Amino acid sequence: MPMAATRTYRIVTLPGDGIGPDVIREAMRVLQAVAEPAGIAIDTAEYLIGGAAIDGAGNPFPDATRAAVLAADAVMLGAVGGPAWDHHTGPMRPESGLLQLRKALGAYANLRPVAVPEALVASSPLRPEVVRGTDMLIVRELTGGIYFGEPRGRDLRDGHRSARNTMVYDEVEIKRIAVIAFDWARRRRHKVTLVDKANVLEVSQLWREVVPEVHKASYPDVALDTLYVDNAAMQIVLRPAQFDVILTANLFGDILSDLAATLPGSLGMLPSASLGSGIGLFEPVHGSAPDIAGQDKANPLAAILSAAMLLDALGETPAAEAVRAAVDDALAEGLRTGDIWSEGFTRTGTTDMGSRVATLARKHLEQIPIG
Ligand code: IPM
Ligand code: MG
Repeated sequence: MPMAATRTYRIVTLPGDGIGPDVIREAMRVLQAVAEPAGIAIDTAEYLIGGAAIDGAGNPFPDATRAAVLAADAVMLGAVGGPAWDHHTGPMRPESGLLQLRKALGAYANLRPVAVPEALVASSPLRPEVVRGTDMLIVRELTGGIYFGEPRGRDLRDGHRSARNTMVYDEVEIKRIAVIAFDWARRRRHKVTLVDKANVLEVSQLWREVVPEVHKASYPDVALDTLYVDNAAMQIVLRPAQFDVILTANLFGDILSDLAATLPGSLGMLPSASLGSGIGLFEPVHGSAPDIAGQDKANPLAAILSAAMLLDALGETPAAEAVRAAVDDALAEGLRTGDIWSEGFTRTGTTDMGSRVATLARKHLEQIPIG
């Protein structure tokens, strides 16, 4: 029996560009569907970010958006960017809105789980025997490194166009993200792989000093190994199931997470959570896919699974588990959006997939007695 809502959460949605609005609509549908049986209430307010904010407010991260997210319990983001704004540069790019948002929230820890459920083994580009059992968590540092380092910019040097970015980390930033990775490993298979470029970069050499210090001091029960990023890219494709937690810097994590995202067959399956200050940011790993925007073609599962991570972060574990179970059920029923469809499955649109998951998630919760 549903009980009266006792906990109310303020969730700011930032649909952004391209398929962002398509998938956020479905994620919110699922959240609203589980709210009542989970005994929670969800207040939502939508704000602008990215290209939509450039068009609507002249700025990819408007002040109204900043104020709203800082007053929220959690933030759900769709995607930013697209060819319409490709001529913009520097802080006027849609992507800059996302980077400013992460910085404003202090969301330094980006968690990108990559699992290949049995239902998707067949849609992986890798052979079933290679991809089966893949279940890794990429812990990507998100508010430092070359994305934010100074100096940066362009100028003329000796009459030639020149540009620079700076990769910089201090030990405080490295320690805090290492702690997140080790803590997650404890909840998983107790293994952390530090991925870097310590054969070339001083920054990576510092990671290789600091991460083992954290390991030795507090996590003797977790295994730590290291890989150079180029080798890690190869290993993710050759033997993905060997990885548990991958700990890495901002740029390497960006690249490796798209690579790992190919394992379940589509970027459209992968959720993420960005945590730090307390206000979490939840977003699908995929981009804005402007070519299919507004056509009921996008896979909403990455956004829906991001909503499950949001529920986790709020401590609403039964609701989070119900959403994940519902996604598994929908896949087991044979529902597939175009990106993961193959012969023999039921091709479905964004809205039907979202609606089905919402119904199934609600059913799951109604079977669990809530005390
Ligand atoms: C991601 C995206 C962003 C990033 C872009 C859109 C700025 O690729 O979340 O991985 O590079 O972090
Ligand atoms: Mg990326």
